[in-house]
Amino acid sequence: MDIVEFGRKAGATSGSTDCASCELRASEERYRNLIQYLPTALWQVDSRRMTAIFDQLKASGVRDIAAYLDQNRDLVRHAGHVVHVTEVNRDAVSLFRANNPADLLKPIQYLFAAAPGLAKRVMAAHFEGRRNFIEETRILTFDGTMIDVLFTVTYPRPPEQLDTTFVTMQDISERLNAEKQLRKLQADFTHAGRIATLGELATSIAHEINQPLAAIVMNGETNLRWLARPNQNTEKVTELTSRIVSNARRASEIIHRIRGMAAKQESEKRLIELNEIIEEALLFIRHDIESKLITLSTTFRPGLPRVMGDRIQLQQVIINLLVNSVQAITQSGQPTRRIDIETSIDEEGSVVFSVFDNGPGIAEADLKHIFDSFFSTKDAGIGIGLAICQSIITAHGGSISGSNRANGGAHFRFTLPAPTVAGTDSGVVDFTRQTHQPI
Ligand SMILES: Nc1ncnc2c1ncn2[C@@H]1O[C@H](COP(=O)(O)OP(=O)(O)OP(=O)(O)O)[C@@H](O)[C@H]1O
Ligand SMILES: [Mg+2]
Repeated sequence: MDIVEFGRKAGATSGSTDCASCELRASEERYRNLIQYLPTALWQVDSRRMTAIFDQLKASGVRDIAAYLDQNRDLVRHAGHVVHVTEVNRDAVSLFRANNPADLLKPIQYLFAAAPGLAKRVMAAHFEGRRNFIEETRILTFDGTMIDVLFTVTYPRPPEQLDTTFVTMQDISERLNAEKQLRKLQADFTHAGRIATLGELATSIAHEINQPLAAIVMNGETNLRWLARPNQNTEKVTELTSRIVSNARRASEIIHRIRGMAAKQESEKRLIELNEIIEEALLFIRHDIESKLITLSTTFRPGLPRVMGDRIQLQQVIINLLVNSVQAITQSGQPTRRIDIETSIDEEGSVVFSVFDNGPGIAEADLKHIFDSFFSTKDAGIGIGLAICQSIITAHGGSISGSNRANGGAHFRFTLPAPTVAGTDSGVVDFTRQTHQPI
């Protein structure tokens, strides 16, 4: 319209009467060129026959066109025949693998050959008076190729006299392929990530159940020796067997907890007494300590505030630290072998666990690496024990550290925050109980 108006004005100033028609021709030429060279496949469609049918349906009270078309499928087929393509551009010819535009100037049903349901949706949008319809879909070209396209329809609107519908299609197969490859790449990465996590999981489980498994073997072998004696000692055999059972249970609980940690499940935190947790942990490792002729002393601060913690996980930390101390002491070949365990409260009110040993201590250069995963100075070490301890303690809101003692040996310590409660839950009594256990 604007172009025609502009043309008329231009014609008027030139004063030529032929100019109106020549400008009109020029305008039509520009319009054709625009359509022909538009960098997208375009169909000009005459949908007047359907507009007339829709008007009748509306007059007879049809409102829900989708439901109506479901019941009157013939109307969809009919539309495919009576709506005609009147013009196409070069891109449409090449998209449909046609030889020339004439191949495409026919009833539009061929546009919907690969997408059942699309014709119905296009009709519904027309009926509802929408201006545009847009959908990612597929077409079947004349040489049998399926192509993914972005299919858009622009409907005429009264009072537009031309009553011409435009269909455009953009080949999006490359974009979809790229997206598919990207999704596959992402899936591969996730898979690789999962395998890495599985590796970590297997390493952690192997490390943590090593101790209960060793205890089971040791108790089982002692049990067998007792059973081989002529005079049966039922009490001893029962004790050893129950140790085997509780170590096996512990191994299974450890697996459960580590799987939970890997799956990022919330750990089973309850209000617990640290001193009790240590006593329980010692039940599992005392035998190992005894067999290495190490003297163990415990100094429990009475009336420690209770802390929120996962019993099994905190026992894992205590046992890992004690196993390290046992290994350090036995490697060092010290004549006197000692491990001292202490609990206390620090200035911030946190509960503190400390273990001191009289092994060789930690080389100065190694101090900053000992909590790294896979850092180990032992021939048979994985280097995961302290990393596990750190992740458990951090998940409990506490901190863990290792240092050397002034007079030799190592000191490991972790703190756990005590929940702030009104009153004096921490009610610290000023005495310590010292239990030296000659082993
Ligand atoms: N009590 C200790 N005395 C001296 N060095 C220690 C002590 N505890 C830990 N270390 C040092 O820290 C390193 C890391 O300990 P960590 O428990 O993470 O691994 P690891 O004991 O070597 O192997 P594993 O994975 O079997 O536990 C040890 O190899 C050792 O060098
Ligand atoms: Mg270790």
